[in-house]
Amino acid sequence: MATAKLILEGKEHELPVYVGTENEVGIDITELRNKTGAITLDSGYANTGACFSNITYIDGEKGILRYRGYPVDQLAEHAKFTEVAHLLMYGELPSLQQLLKFREELTYHSMLHEDMNKFFEGFPRGAHPMAILSAMVASLSTYYPESDERRDMIRLLAKAKTIAAFAYKKSVGQPFMYPRNELSYCGNILHMMFGVPCEAYHVDPVLEDAMHVLLILHADHEQNCSTSTVRMVGSSGANLYASISAGICALWGPLHGGANQAVIEMLQQIHSDGGDVSKYVAMAKDKTSSFRLSGFGHRVYKNFDPRAKILRKTCDNVLARLGIHDPLLDIAKKLEEIALRDEYFIERKLYPNVDFYSGIIYKAMGIPADMFTVMFALGRLPGWIAHWKELREEKPRINRPRQIYRGENVREFVPIEKRG
Ligand code: SDX
Repeated sequence: MATAKLILEGKEHELPVYVGTENEVGIDITELRNKTGAITLDSGYANTGACFSNITYIDGEKGILRYRGYPVDQLAEHAKFTEVAHLLMYGELPSLQQLLKFREELTYHSMLHEDMNKFFEGFPRGAHPMAILSAMVASLSTYYPESDERRDMIRLLAKAKTIAAFAYKKSVGQPFMYPRNELSYCGNILHMMFGVPCEAYHVDPVLEDAMHVLLILHADHEQNCSTSTVRMVGSSGANLYASISAGICALWGPLHGGANQAVIEMLQQIHSDGGDVSKYVAMAKDKTSSFRLSGFGHRVYKNFDPRAKILRKTCDNVLARLGIHDPLLDIAKKLEEIALRDEYFIERKLYPNVDFYSGIIYKAMGIPADMFTVMFALGRLPGWIAHWKELREEKPRINRPRQIYRGENVREFVPIEKRG
């Protein structure tokens, strides 16, 4: 066992060092406070490993992303979303038999209990679909209180797309479209969102393939903010639905999964403002401005986000196949070109991330901006489930970080009449 030496207040302490299968090195500080009385500080947990994991590997310097060892570009090109969901959740790509059974279970559990459909009536028309998704996922625990964890994972994966589609239908005032058993996971999302009762809906294979790629590219990303939230909540013993509902809320933030909606809003703002990209690049560099280029930068990738590369290509393909010319794509490419030549972005290793192009594709598919992060959540769901399952199998201690207190020292209570 390798060790690291720490000298604190003149005393030397040895700390165990772990090396992962991709040669990542971790200094184990589990006993640090017992040995030294001190804790570590790591704003944003940028240097802190929360766990061991076998699910996803990222190399931010080399722009590598692999799910259970498989490069994400190979999965995006050759696999369907349900295959990747099975890989993340159970550790292996399914055989044909396993895939057929998995799909059969997902089809069987696709519907919501009819009483749950009434919940949608309680939300106001403009309710953000992320609020609806989180509330409905947490509410699933009231319909399935028994904890059959394996079946809960299947139920959640099956029903989340139905909840998402119903949230969209609610927002446009159209009747809910129930899932059709003969359609794929992605085909059903499109059918339930864009089908109408008065005519048969034809799933466009271009859109269905694009949906598979989008969901696969979002399926997992190791210990990101929302996945860490799922693990945090799951570590208390909370059920799957409660843990994932918390993850959905974490993803909603504009610094995380909400960035895809923020990117489109930013591109639309630049477009309506005459398309002067340089003005917005200057604003992003100006420390007196709170403006940031949404879809740019990443805590881990200090090189191109491999998902952004694939989505840039998917973007071109989908728009070409649909015969759409979206000026926002031109603006995005100009923004990327200028930023990647600019010292500010080069110095800070800021590249387009997964959210930079995804919104343009969703928009081309007819999906409104406030549904973009819902689509991200649908993609990330198997990853969240896989991490929750991995956590549960390890029987971890409850996650409970420490702090350094910088408040008042002890003082006596002052009665109200003496407080002046
Ligand atoms: C996702 O973690 C994951 O894996 C997330 C994700 C996943 O799949 O789960 O990949 C999905 O969340 C992608 C990120 C989506 N968010 C955005 O696109 C929002 C815009 N990006 C930033 O806010 C930022 O880059 C973050 C939040 C993504 C990363 O933040 P960090 O790692 O805390 O970096 P930082 O804020 O400390 O920035 C470092 C420097 C700062 O400048 P200085 O103070 O050093 O002068 O870079 C600057 C920042 O001001 N900077 C930007 C910028 N991002 C960072 N400047 C302008 N525009 C930006 N987008």
